[in-house]
Amino acid sequence: MSVTTSPTTRAALRVPTCARSADEGGLFFWEYPRSEASGVVTEKLRAEQARKDSHQHSIQHTSVMTTPSRALRLPVFVAAALRRPGTVGAVAPSSPSLCRVLAEIVPSTGAPTVVELGAGTGAVSTAIQKRMPADGRHLAVEIDAELASHLRESHPGMQVLHGDAADLHTLITEAGAETVNAVVSGLPWSLFGEPLQRRILREVCRTMSKDAVFSTFAYRHATGLAGARRFRTLLDDHFDEVVPSHTVWRNLPPALVYVCRNH
Ligand SMILES: C[S@@+](CC[C@H](N)C(=O)[O-])C[C@H]1O[C@@H](n2cnc3c(N)ncnc32)[C@H](O)[C@@H]1O
Repeated sequence: MSVTTSPTTRAALRVPTCARSADEGGLFFWEYPRSEASGVVTEKLRAEQARKDSHQHSIQHTSVMTTPSRALRLPVFVAAALRRPGTVGAVAPSSPSLCRVLAEIVPSTGAPTVVELGAGTGAVSTAIQKRMPADGRHLAVEIDAELASHLRESHPGMQVLHGDAADLHTLITEAGAETVNAVVSGLPWSLFGEPLQRRILREVCRTMSKDAVFSTFAYRHATGLAGARRFRTLLDDHFDEVVPSHTVWRNLPPALVYVCRNH
């Protein structure tokens, strides 16, 4: 079968992909899709991208692979990073280990409302949904239109809000969510200037119900840099309690999570 691909698709097929030795992390390495080795990854990429292309051209298509694997997620992520380098701010989606730590604040019982910021290709979304009780509500905010539509296809169990986290309170209100129990952030804070960092944190605090919890991550190697220290200070300004996690080594690059609460 011959597959006609868009320029974005062709670019995506050329970008490096990553793999781990086991689902939960193992060793992290980079490789290029190997068409010469008729690699499974490349075939899956072609199938996935052909499906997306046909979707783009409004051709009726069957949803064969509605839950892309992490190998398929990376090209989507890299394409977004090339499209919007000023808003993606990472070399790869967060690892399952990091996502699991970020999602630990998600209540696993009851009917919580959980808000995710900067959902990207859905790595953290998957970890949130694993914890989420059946009656929970998951709202994911994503500024990039293509990523937002990718998320709608890949994670039908959550409600995707295409918009800016700086307008969080309005987005959440329009979605009819009154009580927010947890906010999980995948935002690239280091790319934001201080006014935007402040504005988003203010919106987060305004949106969180009493007893709600906020989690976000920082790259370990950067925690000593001025921007990261300033962000840490802003967290302390906005929350009564800011608890850093252990270092999550199984992430590229290694990261830590801040868990924040107001009393
Ligand atoms: C570093 S990626 C993280 C993606 C994913 N959460 C993960 O951890 O793999 C940052 C994501 O935040 C999104 N983003 C950046 N600024 C945003 C904003 N102001 N509002 C909503 N999403 C934003 C980007 O488009 C990108 O998808």
